[in-house]
Amino acid sequence: MIRISPSLLSADLARLAEAVDIVADEAHYIHCDIMDGHFVPNLTFGAPVVAAIKRASAIPLDVHLMIESPGKWIDDYIKAGLDEKDFLTFHYEAEPDSEEVIKRIRDSGVRPGIAIKPKTEYEQFEYLIKLVDQVLIMTVEPGFGGQEFMQDKLIKVKKIRQAFPSVVIGVDGGIDINTASVAVQAGADLLVAGTAIYGQPDPGVAIKNILR
Ligand code: DX5
Ligand code: ZN
Repeated sequence: MIRISPSLLSADLARLAEAVDIVADEAHYIHCDIMDGHFVPNLTFGAPVVAAIKRASAIPLDVHLMIESPGKWIDDYIKAGLDEKDFLTFHYEAEPDSEEVIKRIRDSGVRPGIAIKPKTEYEQFEYLIKLVDQVLIMTVEPGFGGQEFMQDKLIKVKKIRQAFPSVVIGVDGGIDINTASVAVQAGADLLVAGTAIYGQPDPGVAIKNILR
């Protein structure tokens, strides 16, 4: 089954609860982009806002940490109320001891994920895949919404799907009606989309069209 994870980055940040409600009938997850202004050249929001979103909605959260030293911060996100339905995903490139951080997320009862920047090769992070519930393949450079989809990154999706039939494979960046189907063909089963959902007049209809 293909799941959709609307990215709040493209929503009206002054109306987060409404942004979540507006996709409640169609969304399987709510994607929260956490940026620290160091790992990526942009800054968004942190654990208190994730806690508020968690309180405002029953939709599982798909938290995407784009921060340096994620091991220092994951406890704050776990304490924000994440549970066994939520993903807590950090960047492989930001953490020298990814195995330890994955284990801590798993031990806290939250679903661990690793996110992979466009330039990182499959062979570098392959050893971690068996430890996580989600691999999030970036199909743009992390940091901003509205960038162009990098189709050549789907080779990583194909390799993961071949070797790990049951792991959730997310794709993030430039996903729209057209690129979604190419990503799904490659083996992705979790589609993150910001602009293609919240940039549309009716985000609910936009999701239906992407999933069609
Ligand atoms: C980018 C973020 C994405 C972003 C995607 O660093 O990780 O989740 O919201 O935006 P679109 O769908 O507009 O490419
Ligand atoms: Zn993201």
